Amino acid sequence: MNTITTNKTAVALSKTLAEEYVLLLKTQNFHWNVDGPLFFSLHKLFESQYKELLEYIDDTAEVIRTFNVKTPGSFREFQKIALIDEAPNDMLTAHQMIEILNKDHMAMSTRLKEHLEEAEQSEDTSAVTLYEDLITFHDKAAWMIRSHRA
Ligand SMILES: [Fe+2]
Repeated sequence: MNTITTNKTAVALSKTLAEEYVLLLKTQNFHWNVDGPLFFSLHKLFESQYKELLEYIDDTAEVIRTFNVKTPGSFREFQKIALIDEAPNDMLTAHQMIEILNKDHMAMSTRLKEHLEEAEQSEDTSAVTLYEDLITFHDKAAWMIRSHRA
């Protein structure tokens, strides 16, 4: 691993960390605010997903540290880097939440596949493993969420 490659992987991992943190807060926000006939199922599903995201976030941060660079860790930094939008302030319907999170998880999966390819080329094995796990998580999360569509 040369320094340039290492930095490129660390930058991509930092971006991933920021995106996952914004998505975690959004998922937790929807866990709190969801209502209607799908309340119980979505409340539970969102809880299990933000908890799983927290584990991946911690793993991501720790892989970043193996490159000897600082891990970002403030909402100010996360907002600057992340492409995922924060939850809107308005009260949303369960169906709006479903569409938003389905789109976010699919977008994450697409972006992570690009990062995975780069990490494979750089032979950054820890990052490769992490991206593979994250892609599986996001694909599954999107499926579970959109299965609640009417
Ligand atoms: Fe809760």
